[in-house]
Amino acid sequence: MTNSVFRKDGTAQGVAKQRLMETLAKPVQRIIDDPYADRFVVGAGLIKLMGHKLSVWVTQQFSPGFHEHLIARTRFIDDLVRSSAVDGIEQYVILGAGYDLRAHRLDLPPAMKIFEVDQAEVQERKRTKLPKEIPNSDNVTYVSVDFNRQSISERLLAAGFDQTKSTIFTLEGVSQYITKEAVAETVKDMAALTPEVSSMFFISYVDERLNDDPKACFGQGYPNAVKRAETIKRLSAKVGEPWISFYTAEEMETLLNQSGFLLKENQSLADLNDVYFAPVGRALREDQIFNLEKFVIAKS
Ligand SMILES: C[S@@+](CC[C@H](N)C(=O)[O-])C[C@H]1O[C@@H](n2cnc3c(N)ncnc32)[C@H](O)[C@@H]1O
Repeated sequence: MTNSVFRKDGTAQGVAKQRLMETLAKPVQRIIDDPYADRFVVGAGLIKLMGHKLSVWVTQQFSPGFHEHLIARTRFIDDLVRSSAVDGIEQYVILGAGYDLRAHRLDLPPAMKIFEVDQAEVQERKRTKLPKEIPNSDNVTYVSVDFNRQSISERLLAAGFDQTKSTIFTLEGVSQYITKEAVAETVKDMAALTPEVSSMFFISYVDERLNDDPKACFGQGYPNAVKRAETIKRLSAKVGEPWISFYTAEEMETLLNQSGFLLKENQSLADLNDVYFAPVGRALREDQIFNLEKFVIAKS
């Protein structure tokens, strides 16, 4: 690890920071609400002092649309998990959960069993920072796994995963950090875990064009798109978690199909800008669209 502040959780902290910034917005304008995010962010006090508008403005100077992209991703999955709960899905597996607090902040039904999967060190830190009293804590089981080296299904089964229950799996903001073999193996394993019941898989992935045609990953007129693409990759590597895997839309669909999942939706900030930000007066301009990550829902 390159930096003692970021002990394997640099990127998890980075996403929690954007959730904290969004939570500070006025309730009528915010897209998501994560009342626990501040616990996981170094410098949370300063961000709270700055407030929503100023902290988002500072982020925009570095990369327009970066904040909104992560918040759109969070909201998209929040909506999916909530609607899955309404549809009666019985289990929820959060792969690479990091500092995701959906288990506690979405008011999910007590009957839905939740498994959080991540590296042991990240989970240990998370558990020490969670409040003692937090909603739904009895329903959450922590399963520590290194995706690159260990079988998730074995660990899930040992932790009480029930193969007869309909399940939603989410792999949010992770596929770029692990090998393509590990992603394919994970999707295959999750399909094999639920052969007789319906399951859903959410996966986000970084567009392959970020490497060979970076401008295609941003809105028309986005400032310094090529340079920004390089900076984003460099910063991830700097906190010890480099982006190593990129996909085309066809490649991702094939990967899912090979495990029996059918792609239902493939969205990005360009699509969700109108859905989430425009209605609250926060629509981004075309030259602020940060479009390099795609959000996919697939069903078995
Ligand atoms: C960008 S964070 C995303 C966290 C969370 N899904 C979110 O969106 O807030 C990436 C997560 O993947 C986890 N991760 C990265 N490589 C991993 C591996 N080889 N095995 C298990 N988890 C891994 C990290 O620990 C981290 O929590």
